[in-house]
Amino acid sequence: MQSSLLCFLFITFVSFVSCSITLFELSVKVTNAISENVANVNEFTKVTDTDNSKQKLLLLLKLDGIAVEIDEIIGQIQRIDKDKDLNIISRLLKKLAMNNKWHSTLKDIRMIQTYLNDYYKEMKKYIRDADEYNSTVLVDFADKVASGSKNSVPSLLNLLFEKVLGKDFLENLLKYLKPNGICYCQEKQSTAEILHTFMNEIQTTSIKSFVSIYAAYMIKHIYSDKGNFTKAMLNASDNFQRRTNNLISTLKTHMATASLEVRRCDLLPNHIYGETYLEIKNFLHGIIINKVNLDPNGSCKKECNAYSYTKHYNCGSNEWCRKEAMCSKVIGCQYVDSSMEVCPSKMHKTSRRYEYVKLGNGRVLGKEKPCDTDITSLETYRNWVFWKCSYCFCLCDEGRKFYTQNHINMRPVESNIHRNMVVTGLRFIEHNHIIHLQIQEGKLLPNGQIDLNSVQWLAPEDYDITQRNYVNGKDYHTLSWEKRSLQLVDIMAKQGNIVTGVGFVLDKFRNHLRLQVFTRPFNFTTGEVTKTSKAVVEASYEVGPQLKLDAVDIPTNAIFPSNQFETNKFVKFTNSDFEKDAGQSTVPFLDALPVESANPVPLSGVGIFHKGRLGFGGFIAPRIFTYNFTNHLESVFF
Ligand SMILES: *[C@@H]1O[C@H](CO)[C@@H](O)[C@H](O)[C@H]1NC(C)=O
Ligand SMILES: *[C@@H]1O[C@H](CO)[C@@H](O)[C@H](O)[C@H]1NC(C)=O
Ligand SMILES: *[C@@H]1O[C@H](CO)[C@@H](O)[C@H](O)[C@H]1NC(C)=O
Ligand SMILES: *[C@@H]1O[C@H](CO)[C@@H](O)[C@H](O)[C@H]1NC(C)=O
Ligand SMILES: *[C@@H]1O[C@H](CO)[C@@H](O)[C@H](O)[C@H]1NC(C)=O
Ligand SMILES: *[C@@H]1O[C@H](CO)[C@@H](O)[C@H](O)[C@H]1NC(C)=O
Repeated sequence: MQSSLLCFLFITFVSFVSCSITLFELSVKVTNAISENVANVNEFTKVTDTDNSKQKLLLLLKLDGIAVEIDEIIGQIQRIDKDKDLNIISRLLKKLAMNNKWHSTLKDIRMIQTYLNDYYKEMKKYIRDADEYNSTVLVDFADKVASGSKNSVPSLLNLLFEKVLGKDFLENLLKYLKPNGICYCQEKQSTAEILHTFMNEIQTTSIKSFVSIYAAYMIKHIYSDKGNFTKAMLNASDNFQRRTNNLISTLKTHMATASLEVRRCDLLPNHIYGETYLEIKNFLHGIIINKVNLDPNGSCKKECNAYSYTKHYNCGSNEWCRKEAMCSKVIGCQYVDSSMEVCPSKMHKTSRRYEYVKLGNGRVLGKEKPCDTDITSLETYRNWVFWKCSYCFCLCDEGRKFYTQNHINMRPVESNIHRNMVVTGLRFIEHNHIIHLQIQEGKLLPNGQIDLNSVQWLAPEDYDITQRNYVNGKDYHTLSWEKRSLQLVDIMAKQGNIVTGVGFVLDKFRNHLRLQVFTRPFNFTTGEVTKTSKAVVEASYEVGPQLKLDAVDIPTNAIFPSNQFETNKFVKFTNSDFEKDAGQSTVPFLDALPVESANPVPLSGVGIFHKGRLGFGGFIAPRIFTYNFTNHLESVFF
């Protein structure tokens, strides 16, 4: 089989396959091979039955050769997730617990598909081992296949296409599979990719059935004396071409509206730090400080809420203050109660100051649980007889300590374009307490294909913030109370370009981190990425409104999956709710799940969005947009 040759012979239609041959190219190939056979058939018409039994067998073996080739190519094309059920329709049926008209149509489609594929299998058996059967058996089978009866292949095939291309069927498929549609999370593919896979499966069945019909006529022609069946064969070929063209034009129509988005769905309830999510740590913490330590003059004259933006001054003789790590930026203090019991956290240097705080009035800040450190009781005391020195509950911007994890990488990352690599996936990772948006790269091949063996995650740059040649504000950004905004935006490459990198820059006017996407022109036919000039930088300079996260709990406490998705806004990293979490965490968290297509594809865009539920801080997550193949779908037969 010359599949490598085939790879370069037909470049009309693109699919997500390793070799460039696609089902629609295969369709052309099959039709050509078969019309060659039709020509040969006619040479046999004059020869008498007994003389050419060997030649008859040879003819059938040629058909078998075509079938073997078809099977091999189809095997290559359907390589998505080998461990999974290959058939997308049966996967959908298994996962969809529905009972409606659409679902029953899907079931019918699957059933017809199974019948047709079985006919094909049986046909292969007869043509391969034709010498083991007498002509009666062969012709009987051929009659069953090609007769006009309800269960014959042509009738079933017509019915299949009627259902697939019929009113509403594909609209519903797209509806259920669109992002936020009920089936979207089952497949790690964009709606456009799934649609394409579905159509490929239908076309696979169509090719196989065409071969079955054709082989049936061939058998009838050489083993019966009922004529040469040339007309019927050509008719079958015409029908096949017409169906293929219809399928492509329908595909094209729907592909234009199908979403390209691939994002990950929540893996409830298995939140695992570092694996499924990340956090900004030691950035903002609820902190308890006595008024006396907040006042430059060491006085208790003012109320807590007078201290909206100050710092820890001299601890004096306040024992509590001396035990606490000093805070250089104290924000938004408020009075909570005259007495409280504090359970300091063991993870003081890694994530929180307190596990919980129980107030004298019974209210608990955070979640009360057995305290494995010493509980400290704090009480308002009197200073100068009449000033009450109460403990305030404030927010601490921990600043830049060696144990903080509030840095975001700003060094741009680009795929290795010298090896023709492009971006195929994204995820947030943490390295040396710095959050990186990591890229997955894969080698671009002709026709928008990615070399599966080349796909890899690019290691983040290995540096930490103590290294002098890496500068805050240039190489990375350390979040601070004043500069803690992140833009939530989708950025698309312009047509003819492909995503090769990502990065963040700090917008100095708005004090927010802006997503940048690097793209490069490429030649679709050759798969060559333009290497010479610098990458094109795409970004959005528009600022949407702020996504408000007020008094929210940490997202990992949510027991239901995210149902709110936000983009075209900006979000400020902020503290978790005082009541729910003693303000000890920074929200939103970051989703750490890798975002990649089940079948790696080049990207037409990249986004950062927020997902969550009311009352919870949610996650910031990346998403990708698969390459838009719409413009490369062409009719293969004219
Ligand atoms: C052909 O084979 C079938 C099954 O093996 C048998 O029943 C039938 O009699 C055979 N017919 C002829 C004409 O040999
Ligand atoms: C096939 O049969 C038809 C009708 O019997 C005849 O007109 C035609 O010439 C035949 N075709 C070939 C190629 O022999
Ligand atoms: C050709 O195919 C069409 C569609 O299946 C069918 O209606 C028609 O009867 C066929 N014509 C011949 C001559 O077989
Ligand atoms: C894909 O490309 C087609 C043709 O240019 C366009 O109409 C369609 O809107 C694009 N799809 C998306 C999701 O951008
Ligand atoms: C501190 O004391 C000085 C002198 O008594 C006074 O001028 C100043 O306003 C006080 N500062 C504050 C912040 O209360
Ligand atoms: C892509 O490359 C092919 C082969 O080198 C060339 O014929 C074609 O013009 C190129 N297309 C574009 C858009 O540059």
